[in-house]
Amino acid sequence: MKVNPVKGVHDIFDKDALDLKRIETIAAMVANNYGYSPIVIPTIEQTALFARDIKDSSDMVTKEMYTFLDKGNRSLSLRPEFTAGIIRAIVHNKLYALDDLPLRLFYEGSCFRYERPQAGRYREFHQLGVELVDEPSIYNDVEVLLLGYRIITALEIPCLVKINYLPKKESRENYLNALRDYFAPQADKLCEDCQRRLSTNPLRILDCKVSDCQKIIANAPKINDYLSLEEISEFNKIQSLIKESEVDFTCDSTLVRGLDYYSGLVFEYHIDSSSGDLVGAVGGGGRYDKLIEELGGPANLVGIGFSLGLERLLYVYQNSDNYEESDKHIAFYFISMDEKALPIAFYTAELIRSEIGLPCYFEPRVKSAKSGLRAANKKHALYAVIIGEEEVGKGIVSIKNLKSGEQTGVDMSNLISVLTNIFDEENEDLDGEDVPQTKKS
Ligand code: HAM
Repeated sequence: MKVNPVKGVHDIFDKDALDLKRIETIAAMVANNYGYSPIVIPTIEQTALFARDIKDSSDMVTKEMYTFLDKGNRSLSLRPEFTAGIIRAIVHNKLYALDDLPLRLFYEGSCFRYERPQAGRYREFHQLGVELVDEPSIYNDVEVLLLGYRIITALEIPCLVKINYLPKKESRENYLNALRDYFAPQADKLCEDCQRRLSTNPLRILDCKVSDCQKIIANAPKINDYLSLEEISEFNKIQSLIKESEVDFTCDSTLVRGLDYYSGLVFEYHIDSSSGDLVGAVGGGGRYDKLIEELGGPANLVGIGFSLGLERLLYVYQNSDNYEESDKHIAFYFISMDEKALPIAFYTAELIRSEIGLPCYFEPRVKSAKSGLRAANKKHALYAVIIGEEEVGKGIVSIKNLKSGEQTGVDMSNLISVLTNIFDEENEDLDGEDVPQTKKS
């Protein structure tokens, strides 16, 4: 029986999987430079974690959740994002009490949203991101924004950051009222979703992509006109901090983000290229002041974070000017040209992996030198170790450098020390980059 994958999900393999791992490794290294620790949280949560407020107007909560009843009749959901789950974990485990604040957490994994599949949009996709929890500080806000930017630019992808400031408290209420007053008389011209948003959260209308709505949105009241003096001053300070960090950014007063918990600084990472245009924002985030308290944590703590979409990041990474395919760096590819050579190759490869920690690939079939070498090159091996009938008889093994083509015979008894030396020299040449570093000292 052939079973097809579920609509909107995809398998990631071969060079895509290698590149994805490379992106994760680079991101984790950059996050580590900023003092982040990894956190792993469950994929399933109680639905109430995401659908906290009946007035929640985000598409993610109202339309896109994978929600089901388990055998105990509990409503559970596959996580559509990480932020709520991370805050739940922080509050549940009282992580804010364990360590000095700020708490800086780094995560990665899959998320699930029942969206219409299209370029850069899947129903199961992968995110990596961070959340920082502390008392309010614009330095934290900007540091988080910079970290996301540094991850993207570490991948040599040109990134443009769009930022905006969402009003809080009173100014938010004033702005929401102004939006209601503006949209209500033309409600019948808005799409069905926006008509609903008008009573739940009119801010969300600004994010609508329907062209009829966009025409009306173009003349809607502007956020900047409703910010308090204190908020304007904070936003100005944030902008100077970003400017001094030499980050490419623009202010976009229409940027409201697709989730309801934000207030204060919000931002998105865009890529200035045709591949960037195709996938849209590769990531986004912002400050959330109420979520921690809403989920039972201390009221004085606020959060700021971002998530990057790995599929989108992978796409723009592979289409960027400086892209180089990730290699597997198999050190030694064992070719047996005779049945008698197979067990020798098998045990030698195993010994080198387990005792010395060098990456070896064992070909389990007898091969001619020609087809064995072709396969070794395809796997990007550095050396081929060739054992034939004649070699078995003489106790000699041939080692071929697949880059230079140079071939030497080595006495079987010296094989391990010769291969170790070869690998050490190769590792120096490659400056260690991407070569597995499992070698035991
Ligand atoms: P978000 O904007 O919903 O934010 O998602 C972040 C990124 O995930 C998007 O920019 C996009 O790259 C990727 N993404 C979202 N949906 C899909 C999809 N269906 N297929 C492929 N990629 C997708 C959040 O999730 C917030 N939790 C970010 C955050 C963290 N805010 C504060 N902390």
